[in-house]
Amino acid sequence: MIEFEGVGHSYDGRTVLDGVNLRLAEQRVAFVGANGSGKSTLARMINGLVHPTRGRVLVDGVDPVRDGRTVRHRVGFIFTHPDSQIVMPTAGEDVAFSLRRQGLSKAERQRRAAEVLARHGLDGYADHPAHQLSGGQKQLLALCAMLVLDPDVLVCDEPTTLLDLRNKRHFAEVLRGLRQQVVLVTHDLDLLGDFDRVVVLDGGKVVADDEPAAAIRYYRELVR
Ligand SMILES: Nc1ncnc2c1ncn2[C@@H]1O[C@H](COP(=O)(O)OP(=O)(O)O)[C@@H](O)[C@H]1O
Ligand SMILES: [Mg+2]
Repeated sequence: MIEFEGVGHSYDGRTVLDGVNLRLAEQRVAFVGANGSGKSTLARMINGLVHPTRGRVLVDGVDPVRDGRTVRHRVGFIFTHPDSQIVMPTAGEDVAFSLRRQGLSKAERQRRAAEVLARHGLDGYADHPAHQLSGGQKQLLALCAMLVLDPDVLVCDEPTTLLDLRNKRHFAEVLRGLRQQVVLVTHDLDLLGDFDRVVVLDGGKVVADDEPAAAIRYYRELVR
């Protein structure tokens, strides 16, 4: 359960989020809205990358501001640009690196990394140079580096922006198969058909919160 209680945020005195109250228990939730509406700021609060300047956020009752470490174990975050998340030379090493603090042997880390890669579309890529993967494969790699830690929640901020149609579909399919709660920030409205809940932001406020068809209709009217 992700809770936003009276959450607001200002950057340099300029308010960009205001009075956000949400209790997100559904498995698949999306944030949509215009550029600058506050989606990334809100998403980043879930794992404490941004701290609210008003109100608070709770992830299963834990406040990311007070206990960022605990929350970051539960919440994986995928950024738009996967290059910024790749830290090791090969795909296998990159995923294994996520497990460095788990007290596992090197062989076990490698085994788990290879297993996660195989399960999410990168079978046989463990020894492949990470930076030479395609954009779509890098996005999957970033996903694998998070999933290997088996978080409860996965927050993805415009993860398909750089992908072609095929990779976009593949990534969406991978997301669909996850047991994790997924919070997806996106402009790809066609990914949202089977989501449980779509939250529309405008000017830092929640202006619609509904099942996908109704929320998307509201959003389309808003930008007309
Ligand atoms: N680090 C930052 N410093 C100052 N302003 C920021 C920063 N990050 C975002 N903003 C501003 O906050 C507003 C909301 O940004 P953001 O949450 O990134 O919106 P979205 O993801 O919906 O495009 C925008 O006006 C943006 O310019
Ligand atoms: Mg954004």
